[in-house]
Amino acid sequence: MSETPKSEVRALFASIAKKYDLMNDLITFGLHRIWKKRLISLLNKFSAQNLNILDVASGTGDIALSLINDLPERKVTATDFCEEMLDVLREKSQKRSIHLTIQTADAMTLDFADNRFDSATIGYGIRNVPDPMICLKEMARVVAPGGVVAILETGKPTGLFNILWKLHTKLFIPFLGWLLASNIEAYTYLPSTAASFPSGDNFLRIMDSSSAFSSIKAYPQLFGVSYIYIGIVK
Ligand SMILES: C[S@@+](CC[C@H](N)C(=O)[O-])C[C@H]1O[C@@H](n2cnc3c(N)ncnc32)[C@H](O)[C@@H]1O
Repeated sequence: MSETPKSEVRALFASIAKKYDLMNDLITFGLHRIWKKRLISLLNKFSAQNLNILDVASGTGDIALSLINDLPERKVTATDFCEEMLDVLREKSQKRSIHLTIQTADAMTLDFADNRFDSATIGYGIRNVPDPMICLKEMARVVAPGGVVAILETGKPTGLFNILWKLHTKLFIPFLGWLLASNIEAYTYLPSTAASFPSGDNFLRIMDSSSAFSSIKAYPQLFGVSYIYIGIVK
């Protein structure tokens, strides 16, 4: 959960929007693409009906676009509160001739009717909102019962891998941010929120306390560097 005011979080993403995709590839050595594909595989596995999907905190839209690549007849609505991030998605979707609905929306107050979507996704977004429980409840509210809320978020690896991960997040990412995005603040903020955000069982407890899901499960990726969480909506 982010204690940084929403306006500052929005301004931070606006300042890195144009470099966001490149930085993501470099920071994760391209692994975020594999994890996003896994998120979609798990969504397909657990949802009975998945033709009408909401992607929350879409940013530059990797997940939203991949959802359509995965199933071209799918209707995808991509939302974010940062116009500059959505502008990059608009450019990408036009270039690739992919049609989707792009809408400005705050993840804490989704402006959609109850049960409007078959399922919903959020990738690396929930740790940036002021209250993840409210965001989870909102996502579950707009998804029909039996649908899936699928979350991809950073985690904290344990054991030996934790030392490498700390070096990576505390030194490598801010260095890259300074070198390539001229923005050491943004790339210090992003890993610091990853370090403080609950992951694994701790995040499952938040999902459980939301009382929005009939079942929940966590899938660690690369020793817990990232996690995929699946909640089946009650
Ligand atoms: C790290 S980016 C993730 C983008 C994309 N989902 C991905 O996986 O690459 C986080 C995104 O969350 C958005 N975001 C943060 N807080 C938000 C909020 N309260 N409502 C809507 N979007 C929010 C930011 O604008 C940013 O685009």
